[in-house]
Amino acid sequence: MPSAFILGIESSCDETAAAVVRSGEQVVSNVVASQIATHQPYGGVVPELASREHLRAIVPVVRQALAEAQHTYNSVDAIAVTQGPGLAGALLVGISYAKALAFALDKPLIAVNHLEGHIHSVLLEERQKGNHDLQFPVLALVVSGGHTHLYLAAEKDDAWTYENIGHTRDDAAGEAFDKVAKLLGLGYPGGPVISHLAAYGNPQAVKFPVSAMRHRDRNDRGKPLDSKPQFDFSYSGIKTAALRYVEKNDMRAAIEARRADLAKISRPTLEDCLARCDKRVLDLVASFQWAMVADLTRKTLAAAREYQVATLFVTGGVAANNKLRLRFEREAAKIGLPVYFPSRPLSTDNAAMIAAAAYPKFLLKDFAAMDFSAEAGLALR
Ligand code: KG4
Ligand code: ZN
Repeated sequence: MPSAFILGIESSCDETAAAVVRSGEQVVSNVVASQIATHQPYGGVVPELASREHLRAIVPVVRQALAEAQHTYNSVDAIAVTQGPGLAGALLVGISYAKALAFALDKPLIAVNHLEGHIHSVLLEERQKGNHDLQFPVLALVVSGGHTHLYLAAEKDDAWTYENIGHTRDDAAGEAFDKVAKLLGLGYPGGPVISHLAAYGNPQAVKFPVSAMRHRDRNDRGKPLDSKPQFDFSYSGIKTAALRYVEKNDMRAAIEARRADLAKISRPTLEDCLARCDKRVLDLVASFQWAMVADLTRKTLAAAREYQVATLFVTGGVAANNKLRLRFEREAAKIGLPVYFPSRPLSTDNAAMIAAAAYPKFLLKDFAAMDFSAEAGLALR
């Protein structure tokens, strides 16, 4: 089988990314232009600003990805792009550009689900390391700013299928990190700053409630009652508990002072944040992270046992978290379950994962029609 070079394009949220991947198994180039500096003053992603920044970045980012791969527009075999889920206006920038390229160059166009991309980032890197025999069934936890979803992934003759066996009922795990960081005046995104500060606090100092899902989700009402259990998550309670703790302990004034202080610095570093946090804040973030990690690992491993999976993937932006990785490794080892993560650059949003997920579709000639559109709420099946 000759090598196929796929140009991937990703613009679903606040990263404009392009990459060239060879046959779903080698990252030839991987360029990510982050919009963090644009959104930081607002404490979260502003959709209109995201679309504008994607428009600015898309052409230079794609050019750079091709140049670093020593490819030209003409030498790649296909163009792959994220169709959804994500911000509609942001997705449309990548999709319009990918369509224009595919049309002008007369190349196949492949539409990829962003969540499938996160799963394929693990597969891509395992193949790159020479690991070609992962055991099925695979359970994948996709844990990011927009999702906390569990999928059973299967492959037959290059066709991949996914069964969702759990999801968050409210906030995603990454969203909880982002909201708690915003609450504490620590800026955006919350995951990296909280994981850095947590190392200086006591994770047992504050007790957070554990979420127990006693009721079926309204979305699952159509399913037969004897179907296998769902393993759902919920993180809005933990965020509210953090807010109550702040109010009960009169932390507001100190938080506002920190917020104002950090706003004076053009690009505050993690050390800038640390220098402005007292023990109470450090204990709070350490305890919050501990509770998040405990809940994610406990529910995911319960699902892994119930479905008797052979392999576990943990992927998405929150999978960059050190404590989460360590805890998963420790707990999975206890039940002899191999667990795989992407490298940190491929944990958060990137286009290499989109190009990798497109490769099986390329082999199956599963190409997108020129009139396909962005789907903000696209489900993975
Ligand atoms: O996958 P991603 O780049 O974008 C989405 O698809 O959402 O994930 C971004 C999310 C953000 O919520 C960010 O706070 C979180 O991943 N994140 C982390 C860490 N690094 C990024 N959360 C916890 N610990 C980290 N080290
Ligand atoms: Zn993502």
